[in-house]
Amino acid sequence: MARRVWRAVVEGITPYDPGKPLEALMGELGLSELVRLSANESPLGPSPRVVEAIRREAERAHLYPDGGSCALREALGRHLGVSPAQVVIGNGADELISLVALAAFDPGDEVVVPVPSFEPYVTSVTLAGARLVASPLAGYEVDLDDVRRRVTARTKAVILCSPHNPATTIIRRAALLALLKAFGEDPPLIVLDEAYCDFCDDPDYPNGIALLAAHPRLLVLRTFSKIAALAGLRVGYAVGGLETIDRLNRVRAPYNINRLGQAAALAAVSDAEHRERTRRLVLEERAFMSRELARRGLTFPGSQANFLLVKIPNAGAVRERLLRAGLVVRDGAAVGFPDHLRISLGTHEANQRLLRALDAA
Ligand SMILES: Cc1ncc(COP(=O)(O)O)c(C=O)c1O
Repeated sequence: MARRVWRAVVEGITPYDPGKPLEALMGELGLSELVRLSANESPLGPSPRVVEAIRREAERAHLYPDGGSCALREALGRHLGVSPAQVVIGNGADELISLVALAAFDPGDEVVVPVPSFEPYVTSVTLAGARLVASPLAGYEVDLDDVRRRVTARTKAVILCSPHNPATTIIRRAALLALLKAFGEDPPLIVLDEAYCDFCDDPDYPNGIALLAAHPRLLVLRTFSKIAALAGLRVGYAVGGLETIDRLNRVRAPYNINRLGQAAALAAVSDAEHRERTRRLVLEERAFMSRELARRGLTFPGSQANFLLVKIPNAGAVRERLLRAGLVVRDGAAVGFPDHLRISLGTHEANQRLLRALDAA
């Protein structure tokens, strides 16, 4: 019998499809310029202070980075009001999701995930050989009552996302607190992905980090990709109980965050003004686009993120038309919402261009 090299679970995995690189798409479409509104990137770009920090650090590229990302963890600890020992930095929040799986999930374990959700949750559960227990969304909302009903003695973790990607909605404070209370003294790990928390303006949005003192099995994921516009450098972080952070540190690669990423993120932590400018732009554009799309009779859940999930007939065809007009948006069908487009909020100019192209389509 032929030697079986690859794990069976790997054979079942579809590689994550990040879409074609912008340059390749432009060549294919014969366009000299393309606006990407499909990856929920920052419309403003990184702060000048961050760019300068990257420049300075480039000269030290021959030296291994600080394997413990100590300066960054200390700065984050001060910024968030937690001990640096409660923070682990990841190569993007993406890596932290994999680390949780590596440290916690054995074959046969159950992991409850609202579905659809950000795709890497399901991939990491599957790769670990664990069993995905899917909790269907109620429309555009995570249904925490349903999540709770699906938790058993075999449940290792619950992976929640708020604001939700792709649905843009939040888990409200009372519902989250009720879930945490219902889990009692020996809860599963509760991974709360807050990648888009900086764009929330709903007073009912709970700050996961404030809940950590009372809930040591809660693990909050955040990222520098969105509010700090460092998606290209891959820096995310997890904040949690000491035991959880210790286990994640055991399974991560020794130098998982490169020098430029650490220097950039450190500069970003200290630039509150740039964060505020980014937040203001996203919130203003979100209000503008919500108004304009509603005026055109389109429907979508009220967004608390830096993107909108818009219901639209013939979404695939509309996406193609937008693409030919130089605008890339995400087909909802690819993220569990057929007949929708997921549209990142761009600059005011990009958003106006999108509206014109939508009208023409
Ligand atoms: C919900 C959610 N979590 C995590 C991530 C990944 O963040 P990072 O760029 O830090 O890997 C994303 C990226 O789009 C996301 O939407």
